[in-house]
Amino acid sequence: MENWVRVLLLVVCLFPAMVECRVRNYTFHVVMKNTTRLCSSKPIVTVNRRFPGPTLYAREDDNVLVKVTNHVKYNVTIHWHGIRQLRTGWSDGPAYITQCPIQPGQSYTYNFTVTGQRGTLLWHAHISWLRATLHGGIVILPKRGVPYPFPKPDEEVVVILGEWWKSDTEVVINQATQSGVAPNVSDAHTINGHPGPLSPCSSQGGFKLQVESGKTYMLRIINAALNEELFFKVAGHNLTVVEVDATYTKPFTTDTLLITPGQTTNALLTADRGSGKYLVAASPFMDSIVAVDNMTATATVHYSGTLSSTTTTITQPPPQNATPIANKFINSLLSLNSKLYPAKVPLTVDHNLLFTVGLGVNPCATCVNGSKVVAAINNVSFVMPTFSLLQAHYFNISGIFTTDFPGNPPIIFNYSGNPPGTSPANMNTMNGTRLYRLPYNATVELVLQDTGIIAPENHPIHLHGFNFFQVGRGLGNFNPNKDPKNFNLVDPVERNTIGVPSGGWTAIRFTADNPGVWFLHCHLEVHTTWGLKMAFLVDNGKGPNESLLPPPSDLPTC
Ligand code: C2O
Repeated sequence: MENWVRVLLLVVCLFPAMVECRVRNYTFHVVMKNTTRLCSSKPIVTVNRRFPGPTLYAREDDNVLVKVTNHVKYNVTIHWHGIRQLRTGWSDGPAYITQCPIQPGQSYTYNFTVTGQRGTLLWHAHISWLRATLHGGIVILPKRGVPYPFPKPDEEVVVILGEWWKSDTEVVINQATQSGVAPNVSDAHTINGHPGPLSPCSSQGGFKLQVESGKTYMLRIINAALNEELFFKVAGHNLTVVEVDATYTKPFTTDTLLITPGQTTNALLTADRGSGKYLVAASPFMDSIVAVDNMTATATVHYSGTLSSTTTTITQPPPQNATPIANKFINSLLSLNSKLYPAKVPLTVDHNLLFTVGLGVNPCATCVNGSKVVAAINNVSFVMPTFSLLQAHYFNISGIFTTDFPGNPPIIFNYSGNPPGTSPANMNTMNGTRLYRLPYNATVELVLQDTGIIAPENHPIHLHGFNFFQVGRGLGNFNPNKDPKNFNLVDPVERNTIGVPSGGWTAIRFTADNPGVWFLHCHLEVHTTWGLKMAFLVDNGKGPNESLLPPPSDLPTC
């Protein structure tokens, strides 16, 4: 934005009651904090000494400014997960994709406007594994005077699910990378920072949601875990889902939510039990042979007036491999698709893409087995550049990336590996910093196909810069002749992070109406580390309104 426009906006927005515009100013200090969880204490990286970090509040159309100052020894970036960042890719945050990291002692001000979105999202560090403790909620309220398309809840509560390691997560991932084997799973799950009253370190208590009988609470649930999809339940209560990834859904009632890392869900909880204490449980979902942390995090819903000696009504978490419960939840999700909030599904497709997502094995002389586990999209393990792709693109610097990312798998095989053992004999992947180039406003259909290489697994794939519609989903290999006939092009769920089922596929559609470089990756951080990532390069359209803005003057340098 031109500086004088910014100054004008700042002045005008000093009187928010007079005009419908606002600037929200936040200051994030990235600092170490010593903390005790699970009977052990360790220093963690935090924003403003808080874990989880502060919630960012904005109203649709607000201009948000967050000045991030890095006081720790690590390079840092912050990503505003799910914020569209229309023409403001410089503020998106993934390290080496849209910016060089904020180095120790430096500051950078993220500057973006929230357009056409309302609901819950999250912010998190986007470099190495720092997001384990550097994360927090984003609450986007509707424009002033615009109601929710569902009965207004009496109260709203941010509920952040996380994962906790007793050791330093930077050490965990660095050791794993050196040895070539999988990193340790976490030691606990957390709800708003606490493993909960059932954890062996119960003296720490846990998150307590105080409710009054008869009132309705909107839980803004965020999965900020690094590597695990979670089930979420409240004993004795149903939840009504009204929004996911900051888009309204057709309301539906369920006793169990499924939420992958990077996803958010707004659900209404009506305190209809009169009195008592009820357990809240977050437990892992994994329907493959991959190891997970099987600890259940707990919290309590506590009705006002209930004696503290009252025993808590408990709930049984779903079995870890409860695929039917997961599927039932996923299949219930549909866009609200109302007059005010239409589902703008692209009905024609300019680019038909099929991306295989999964694991691989590459030789590694210094690794313990002489090989290392990797991950790839269309057999390419993405190599992180040492300079930001968006800067390289904007300033036409060659030699940083190529635009030859394959739109289809280079080798055709029985992707889903069903029956098992039909994976390709050669599980090696190619390395490269390869992008897929799209003209402005191109419509894209992207089929994400899980592979059975090593093991099939549910991959929550996240696309930066866009929302997409999940038009189809199935098991086995995607069949381009049959499966599109069953696509939902009317009211498919709209989101920014979608689970690709174990040994199956998910088809998404989006319009490339945002110029810039946009990361696509698995939101299981271990898979991102292993190379399950790529980026789209979207060209400018016509004129300034369809073009990437110039970089801000304080953009970090590499
Ligand atoms: Cu929530 Cu690329 O990340």
